[in-house]
Amino acid sequence: MEYKHIKIYNLSNHPEYLPTVAKRYRKVFFKDQVDNMYNTIYCIQHACHKKKIPQTLIVLYKDIPIGTAAIRNCDIAYRQDLSPRLANLFVLPKYRKLGIGTMLQNEVLKKVKKLWYKKIYLYTKIEWYYEKTGRQFKELIPVDKKEFERLYVHTL
Ligand SMILES: CC(C)(COP(=O)(O)OP(=O)(O)OC[C@H]1O[C@@H](n2cnc3c(N)ncnc32)[C@H](O)[C@@H]1OP(=O)(O)O)[C@@H](O)C(=O)NCCC(=O)NCCS
Repeated sequence: MEYKHIKIYNLSNHPEYLPTVAKRYRKVFFKDQVDNMYNTIYCIQHACHKKKIPQTLIVLYKDIPIGTAAIRNCDIAYRQDLSPRLANLFVLPKYRKLGIGTMLQNEVLKKVKKLWYKKIYLYTKIEWYYEKTGRQFKELIPVDKKEFERLYVHTL
């Protein structure tokens, strides 16, 4: 991996990658929420602002789209206080454990700070990842009848 060829962009500046991002989102994140490809693209298109949230970031390695991250509002109806949040963090399996997820996280933190937010929220079902990248676990939040997500808060 030649790190100098890794670049992170706002997806609104590279709409040509939108269909690829949509395909990945459908596989990984939107399985049960968005019912078809047209609506997935519609949803991402409306999460592509430059100077306010929501925003979608894409990471390219020599023009190959290898990962994404997004800054979004909270999607948990009864926890609307958890905005903005880091969402849709994804790295293609072949490129994992090389620090790209951490790079995407850092880019999101930078952008959110530039927008004058004081905190960003992260939540996930995965138990190990955010601890490994130095985030502070806060509490478990109920997201479904019997499911919980792990909430992390990062002060900017
Ligand atoms: C979670 C994900 C984004 C991590 O991306 P990544 O580019 O591999 O992350 P990094 O390389 O920055 O890893 C950061 C740390 O986590 C560790 N790590 C990454 N994947 C790991 C795994 N599967 N098991 C254990 N540790 C892991 C790395 O080794 C690194 O620790 P180190 O600094 O001690 O070596 C990626 O695995 C992914 O896309 N998963 C599927 C989508 C998903 O679940 N997204 C939600 C994430 S909350």
